[in-house]
Amino acid sequence: MPKIFTPETFSPEEREARKDFIDKHTPYIYCDTALQKGIPAFVRVRVGSEHAHIDDFNHYISTITLFDADHMLAKVELAACIVSAEERKGNAEVAFSIVPSKDVYHFNAQCYCTKHGLWQGKEVEVRVN
Ligand SMILES: [Fe+2]
Repeated sequence: MPKIFTPETFSPEEREARKDFIDKHTPYIYCDTALQKGIPAFVRVRVGSEHAHIDDFNHYISTITLFDADHMLAKVELAACIVSAEERKGNAEVAFSIVPSKDVYHFNAQCYCTKHGLWQGKEVEVRVN
């Protein structure tokens, strides 16, 4: 089992000192909080909130995976250099389409950095009407 980094992996002092580094490796979930059973909806995962990760052939975000608790829902593989051009860095981001079929989801996401390994963000609980 590979080591999974989360913001909580780091001490409060490290979290403050390495804020940019941690943020640009953390996958954040954005989801409509008014999901309805049977109605398609998007769950977006964006790596980095305030900072964008580097995106070159030696160092980039290569996968983004969406989970419902421990159950993998979808995984996307990314090539290098798709979100950056010259000096401009963008955030790796994917929108997963789901059709809710249960009362509650515990969405979580992981991403893989080719240099810094596997990272996981904060779980988001979403209730379905
Ligand atoms: Fe990295």
